[in-house]
Amino acid sequence: MRNLIDITDLTIQEIDELIATACDIIANPDKYCDACRRKKLATLFFEPSTRTRLSFEAAMLELGGSVIGFSGASNSSASKGESVSDTVRVVGCYADIIAMRHPKEGAPMIASMRSPVPIINAGDGGHNHPTQTLADLLTIQREKGSYENLTIGMCGDLKFGRTVHSLIHAMRRYKGVKFILISPEELKVPEYIIQELDREGIPYEETTSLEDAMPSLDILYMTRVQQERFFNEADYVRLKDSYILNPDKLATAKKDLCIMHPLPRVNEISVAVDDDPRACYFKQVLNGKYIRMALILKLLEVA
Ligand code: NCD
Repeated sequence: MRNLIDITDLTIQEIDELIATACDIIANPDKYCDACRRKKLATLFFEPSTRTRLSFEAAMLELGGSVIGFSGASNSSASKGESVSDTVRVVGCYADIIAMRHPKEGAPMIASMRSPVPIINAGDGGHNHPTQTLADLLTIQREKGSYENLTIGMCGDLKFGRTVHSLIHAMRRYKGVKFILISPEELKVPEYIIQELDREGIPYEETTSLEDAMPSLDILYMTRVQQERFFNEADYVRLKDSYILNPDKLATAKKDLCIMHPLPRVNEISVAVDDDPRACYFKQVLNGKYIRMALILKLLEVA
């Protein structure tokens, strides 16, 4: 039985297969509309979410399956003191597969050690978010046609942004990829990730300037400053508007830049950018549903 806790649980070949399945779903949706008939997905969201939870639910419904679950720890037995291990053992009696989001780093991994059914990490604290990365990879594949030889700018909260951590882990496996890590000093990528990049000899630069980085980028991955992970409101207020992408800042960008954002957006991309053909963040949302369909099929071993 397979789980998805970290994006590197999947080999490059498995990622290619998931992308191929997602593309086939996009081309032939009718072929898949009964693929998960009589199967149930449980969404156990111990932390607020709209898009990821609804994306999983829409994915399962489009596969002909059904969905149970809760959103918010206060709606679950965690509020009575139950451990995640017990929760998944119980829910595994009702559902065939579980998507779990939890504020504590590592909780879905602990859950997977006890679960009788596959566990998907739908975001664990400031750590990882592998299914967002799958959505990002499908978007990059559809927009750029390849993962190789890309200069990827990641901008904003690189410290707490779990989507950033998972995307770096995925993209560092491809040839010719270079990262430009754009953040305030206080929100730099965690040291353990920098050490991994150093160890593997993967090219990267750290900078505070989005303007300096802009002309060299093939992909610009904007992120929200993660308010819920701050210990101190004053720091959040000081840092929250560090980067605001607007049409002027795009003047020096490549014509085929791909602008991404996992959403929700706060201020970091002005709405005036939304009509720019390079804005891909709403396409990313749709891609997220298709790739989650592909993932559910794989983990349930129906495709
Ligand atoms: C991201 C998350 O939850 O980490 N959102 C998402 O899943 N689409 C990004 C964020 O909340 O900023």
